Amino acid sequence: MCASHEELFSLLKRLCEAWGPPGREDSVREIVIDELRNYVDEIHVDSLGNVIAVKRGGRGGAKLVLAAHMDEVGFVVSHIDDKGFLRVLPVGGLHERNVISQRIAIRTRDGRIVRGVVGAKPPHVAKPEEARQVPEFRELFVDIGASSREEVEKLGVRVGDFAVFDRDLQLLGTKRVTGKALDDRVGLAVMISVVKELEKHEVDLYAVATVQEEVGLKGARVAAYAIDPDAAIALDVTIALDVPGVGEHEYVTRLGRGPAIKVIDGRMGTGLIANPKLFNKLIEIAEKHGIPYQVEVAPGGTTDASAINLTKRGVPAVTVSIPTRYLHSSVEVLDLDDVVNAVKLVKRFIEEVPSEWLASLRGYRAK
Ligand code: CO
Ligand code: ZN
Repeated sequence: MCASHEELFSLLKRLCEAWGPPGREDSVREIVIDELRNYVDEIHVDSLGNVIAVKRGGRGGAKLVLAAHMDEVGFVVSHIDDKGFLRVLPVGGLHERNVISQRIAIRTRDGRIVRGVVGAKPPHVAKPEEARQVPEFRELFVDIGASSREEVEKLGVRVGDFAVFDRDLQLLGTKRVTGKALDDRVGLAVMISVVKELEKHEVDLYAVATVQEEVGLKGARVAAYAIDPDAAIALDVTIALDVPGVGEHEYVTRLGRGPAIKVIDGRMGTGLIANPKLFNKLIEIAEKHGIPYQVEVAPGGTTDASAINLTKRGVPAVTVSIPTRYLHSSVEVLDLDDVVNAVKLVKRFIEEVPSEWLASLRGYRAK
């Protein structure tokens, strides 16, 4: 790994291994504040828990939001039985397939971390047709090593406690990483790096670390309302399907080919249709500086950009995404080169975009 890879890896490791399901982002929030505090003019936390850090530009003009979400998909304990087993429900878009046989970390009300495993019948006893089926969430159970309800209580676990995958971040090969919550701690890593490396710029930058993206883009909506920005860029992951068994026409993006600049997402465009001027400007800047990029046309999923886009009188928005495999699993994979290039692209954009140009995106009086 080169120096910039090493630096990114350690920042990513810190962020990804933090515990932060939707609505319980406090550990991630602490890291974000700690990282940004010395590089911005002001920083505050709003009533939902979003972190809003402001770095003023030279011209006190247009407001640009960068948004990345702090939450990760997780679980909530819904039931504890007499034998000491737990039942959990998903918080965010979790597929049962990615949950079976995983280790999870539950945080109790008094702040302890209790480990559990998502159990299932072993193959030795499962009937062939049963083994082929993916059980539903209500059939899954969590084993925390307790043999009675009393033992569960002693460990401090109660109905309503949240959990996330229990997985560390590891290097895969020489420049790829694997772990949980790369969605969207990598967006935070890009945002933090950009703020730290930023040189002269005209626009006022609002770096926003949002809450509850995975459960309906909630934090971004209220943060954007309060800031009332002239434009916004969401930093998030996107689908990379460059794996065996998938046709090239379905890849969406590929690892290592550069950050993706989004055109459209959501089912049939119901997510975001990126502002074409922002989209074109990002491409112009990438080409000017020789930064590799991919154009992203995503068949599903969306990001904070679509909530910000529809705030108040409307906010022109685009997303810069990091191609990521196996989204919403405990073994997400991305390429550090794409992260380095995303930082370059977003940094250059902020440094080079004229305040007046950004403000002009808000509309005009027709002659
Ligand atoms: Co996600
Ligand atoms: Zn995300």
